[in-house]
Amino acid sequence: MSLDLARIRAETPGCARVLHLNAAGSSLPSRRTLEATLDHLKLEAEIGGYEAADQARDTLDGFYPSVARLIGAEESEIGFVENATRAWDLAFYSLDFKPGDRILTCVSEYSSNYISYLQVAKKTGADIVVVPDDKHGQIDLAALERAIDKRTKLVSLSHVPTQGGLVQPAEAVGKIVNDAGVLYLLDACQSVGMMPIDVKRIGCDFLSATGRKYMRGPRGTGFLYARTRSTSRIEPIFLDNHAARWTGDQEYTVLGDAKRFENWERYFAGVIGLKVAADQANELGMEAVWARLRQLADGLRARLAKLGGVTLTDLGMVKGAIVTFAVKDADHTALKMALRSQGINVSVSTQFSSRLDLQGRGLKDVMRASVHAYNTEDELDRFVDALDSLIRR
Ligand SMILES: Cc1ncc(COP(=O)(O)O)c(C=O)c1O
Repeated sequence: MSLDLARIRAETPGCARVLHLNAAGSSLPSRRTLEATLDHLKLEAEIGGYEAADQARDTLDGFYPSVARLIGAEESEIGFVENATRAWDLAFYSLDFKPGDRILTCVSEYSSNYISYLQVAKKTGADIVVVPDDKHGQIDLAALERAIDKRTKLVSLSHVPTQGGLVQPAEAVGKIVNDAGVLYLLDACQSVGMMPIDVKRIGCDFLSATGRKYMRGPRGTGFLYARTRSTSRIEPIFLDNHAARWTGDQEYTVLGDAKRFENWERYFAGVIGLKVAADQANELGMEAVWARLRQLADGLRARLAKLGGVTLTDLGMVKGAIVTFAVKDADHTALKMALRSQGINVSVSTQFSSRLDLQGRGLKDVMRASVHAYNTEDELDRFVDALDSLIRR
């Protein structure tokens, strides 16, 4: 089924204000998501926060099945967390690493995740192994298979990196990791909402995601998926009176579902906003969204390839909705700001976000234009024309 583009744009207030090519930073939410979030904030102000939560109970509870449907999970396997980093941390830091345990990851790994590997390695004596890329720039599956040994405790990687179009072969990785009986943590921060995700097919044990990027939810929202079969005995690093019950003076009992990774206080309006955003993604259909995003991104790459001085920097056999490029002798941040002054939003990815990948390719930073379903071919023409004029100036 194809998408009704005119309707998507009409229902996205931001489309009237900006040419937004920064979905990988934070995308434009729909009016429905915006209003659901604002309505709850208003209700909290009008009748009280606890009372508003009681009144919205059904919608709040509806968060779990809506998000579960988006990624093919059970609703008991979803926990609301305030962002992807904390969701990821809750999974990672809950694992009990011992000296010599190995953490396998990929070259394009996100900086916050890598910093956590370094911290845990320093504290516990675990080892970090970076599996090399293959000739396409994705994780080398044969090298991954060779690298997994008895000491391997975790395979952990970002599905789609922040700094490019690469889509890692998450399902093929899952097959190797599951066959080896090792835990698999997938950072799907950029991929949920961009493409169809089926956690059962991928075979991951944990998956972390954020609300504000391809899901088009509010900022300050995210979630953690924890597969019941393999993770139900993993006790979260943090417990509170929501994640566990104080069942005796010297006893507590941890919740049995993924809510054990949540905490009691949260951004309730954000939970509702993210639920609505997940519903809308489900209604549009992720196959149709993915087809549209690839069409837009491929079209943008083709346009950029024709510009003098522009080098495309996306890696991978499968490329998604994030388009990155370098402009010869240009200050990318200055270009970004010049575009912003014309109402065009793009971003710049630096080694701050992914040191090993960009440093390894000799790139200080890259420009990033990330499309979503509300973008049009006309907008891409306008963006490329504006960029071309700035480059020639
Ligand atoms: C691959 C990846 N993982 C994690 C994050 C962090 O997400 P959040 O800011 O929601 O914690 C990002 C943000 O850019 C990302 O690109």
